[in-house]
Amino acid sequence: MPPIKNTKVSTYLPRLGLSALILCLISGIILTFYYRPMGNVFQNVEEITTLVPYGWFFRQFHYISGQVFVILMLIHTLDHFLKKRYLSYSTGQWFLLILSLCICFFVLFTGFVLKGDKEGFFAGQIFMNILRAIPIAGEWLSKLFIVPGEDFFFLPYLYHCFFLPILLIYLIREHIREWLPDQKALFAGAAGLFLYALIVKPHVDVPPDAAVDMVKGPWFFLGIQTLLKIMHPVLAGLFIPGLFVLCVLILPKTGTAWGRALYYLITTAFCLYGILTFRAIIWGP
Ligand code: HEM
Repeated sequence: MPPIKNTKVSTYLPRLGLSALILCLISGIILTFYYRPMGNVFQNVEEITTLVPYGWFFRQFHYISGQVFVILMLIHTLDHFLKKRYLSYSTGQWFLLILSLCICFFVLFTGFVLKGDKEGFFAGQIFMNILRAIPIAGEWLSKLFIVPGEDFFFLPYLYHCFFLPILLIYLIREHIREWLPDQKALFAGAAGLFLYALIVKPHVDVPPDAAVDMVKGPWFFLGIQTLLKIMHPVLAGLFIPGLFVLCVLILPKTGTAWGRALYYLITTAFCLYGILTFRAIIWGP
């Protein structure tokens, strides 16, 4: 195996990503002072946006720092994949990287649900229905993540604000010291995100009782939302994404010929999902 070349992408992006994570955690903690997962969540979030001093700013800052962090984690993983670094890593290291990325997307997803508007509520309900559709254990499994009724937002809130960030920090703990941004990087990251939150208008939250033609999920879920229209929920929402993650996980364990075939299969599936997502962003799922 030739020595690994460290490009700018490999060295700077994780540092910028960690800056975004630190800023996202700080803004998230500020939001939890006001956020109430029980009762009328949509009204509570609207109050944060319109009545709480700088509430709109903290929401937008938290939103963009979270998105930037997860997108940089995705690029970081793609960088490892395209340079075939998994060949020189232990299976455990590769497994941790992929698991951390999956958790990142789940944090984004639960954050989307927590908005409490029509889109957030629908996303939560679709997720609950996918889990419930699993034969035998579905009903029980769904109750571990989300329950219908008054407490609908409570479990996503616990996962989003506590369990998942703590688990994520634990999983990437060995990288944290290595990637810890210096003051300059942290300041540059904060300035960029600050300007974005100040200048760019936030996405308008759709009231739960509004009549709308189409309800869209978060950007990375749009491909699955499209597949859900033509396939059984377990197939579109769990089996296909699960099989994809499994193929990525076993990649370092496969021999040369199988490894090459699997590498191209994963690349093709990723590109197809990208096309599906892009199509759904433009024309709807
Ligand atoms: C990896 C870490 C995190 C990421 C990527 C992330 C991302 C997000 C995203 C994308 C949203 C939806 C915002 C919107 O569309 O308006 C959100 C909402 C929210 N997040 Fe986080 N978050 C993270 C950690 C945290 C933490 C640690 C807390 C609190 C301790 C927190 C508290 C909240 C709250 C209360 C909301 C709902 C309010 C709103 O919609 O503005 N987040 N998060």
